[in-house]
Parts: sequence; structure tokens; C-alpha cells
Amino acid sequence: MEVVKTIPELRTLRQKLSGTVGFVPTMGHLHEGHLALVKQASMENSAVIVSIYVNPTQFSLSEDFADYPRDLNRDLELLRREAVDIIFVPSDDEMYPPGFSSWVEVEEVTERLEGASRPRHFRGVATIVTKLLNIVRPSRAYFGQKDAQQVAVVKRIVADLNMGVEIVVVPTVRESDGLAMSSRNIYLSSRERQAATILFQSLMLARQLWQDGEKNTDKIQQQMTSLIQKEPLAQIDYISIADAETLEELKSIDRPALAVLAVRIGKTRLIDNMPLE
Ligand code: PAF
Repeated sequence: MEVVKTIPELRTLRQKLSGTVGFVPTMGHLHEGHLALVKQASMENSAVIVSIYVNPTQFSLSEDFADYPRDLNRDLELLRREAVDIIFVPSDDEMYPPGFSSWVEVEEVTERLEGASRPRHFRGVATIVTKLLNIVRPSRAYFGQKDAQQVAVVKRIVADLNMGVEIVVVPTVRESDGLAMSSRNIYLSSRERQAATILFQSLMLARQLWQDGEKNTDKIQQQMTSLIQKEPLAQIDYISIADAETLEELKSIDRPALAVLAVRIGKTRLIDNMPLE
């Protein structure tokens, strides 16, 4: 396993890899969700590259960039146990050198949900993912279903800019009580951690209602809202039943859909989703 910090070093090593290359971009502080991406990438490819980079441009000034959990030694130790060939750990100067001024802006799919709550977030994500894909040139890149809108944005970029990489979406990995694995779960106090299960419970409620034949998305959202409002530590940012591909809001579930939500538990903002298909 080679750990490299610069783009030329990465490119030199990349050229020596033969066969297919699976790429897993991460912001580090790895958990079982990331490891599921790495494991799938190593099953499906001849070689695996992982990046660890907390991308400043996808955080707004009021967000948790400075506090975002970082533990490179622990991450490297976890990756050493997986079949990872190269780990790319660039600095801010490597990714955004002086004079940097080109951005990737994706329209429409970025306008709702996370895009509405976190202006410029997807501009940062789209730019860094495009840069990483250009640097690594993988055969396949792996993303978690938990960040469903990010997946839709990345698929849009790859199609629109003819990037020739297959995007593989890996199901969300959950704790035993259903909470989706996230690096931000570490911010939760024990009482908040308990309260955070309300996200999964409300998604299960949505799925149950849909399985029982409910198609009206207003009714499903109302029931999800009432359930979450019973939890005093939870504050809803958004709940939506959306088209599974475009994330466009649906009035009726007449095609593959996703129940998606963002909820604050105390000061921690969590997102999750559940396919209804
Ligand atoms: O999902 C993440 O961890 C990040 O948004 C990504 C894809 C690594 C880009 O910084």
C-alpha cells in the first residue's frame, strides 16, 4: 500500500497499475460505510485507489470544516487491512494551488434539498470529484447511497462531461438500530445518539405506508413529520419524496422514488434516505 501526497506521484503509480482500477473518494475518518465501498471496489477491480481529503470548498463558513473529524493514522491502519493499492492524501495547495479559478457547476439536480440548505456545497463537491476523477482516471468510482443527491450530481457530471467512468452506488451501511453510518455521528451526545434513530424510524414509516399502498406523498410526509416532531431534540430541515434519479419532488409515487430527509439532532445535521422502489 503506497501513500502519496502529490498529483505527479499519484500519476506515476497509477500508470503502473494494470487492469481495472476502482476509486473510492473519501474525507477520511473512515467507518464501516467507507469500508463497504472499499471492499466492493476491491472485489470488482484489479486495483483500488482511495483518496482522503477534507475538501474545504464544500463547506460553508458556518459549517464544521475546522471541526470535521480527522485521524489519518487510524484511517491508514483501517485501509492497510483492505486490499488498497494507493492512498492519495493531498494538501489544500495540491488541490487548490494559487490562481485556482475553475469550478464545476451542475444545474437543476443541485437546486433542491441539500443544494437549497447548503448553498455552494455541490459546487465544491462537483469540482473536487471532477478533479479527483481526472487525476485518478479510474475504471469505476464508488459512492454511498446515503448521499443520494451527491450520487445524482456525480452521475450528471460524468454523463454531461463524457468522463468515461462507471459510477457504482453502494447501499447505506447502518448501525444495529438503523442509524446510517456517518463521520458526523461522532458529534452526538449519548442522548442525541438515541434521538438520532428517529431518522431511520421515519424512513421505515414511509416505506411501510408505501408498501401498504399509499401513493400520496403529502400524506407520507405528514406522517413522517408528526413522528419526528415527537422527538424533542430533532428539528426537521427537509423531508421529501423524490424521483430516485433526478431527486425531483413527486406528488404521487408513480415511479422509483426515494424518501429523503435532513434533520438536526441538537447541533448535528444528519441526512438519510430510503428507496421506495
Ligand atoms: O462524500 C464525501 O465524502 C465527499 O463529498 C467526497 C465525495 C469525498 C468529495 O469531497
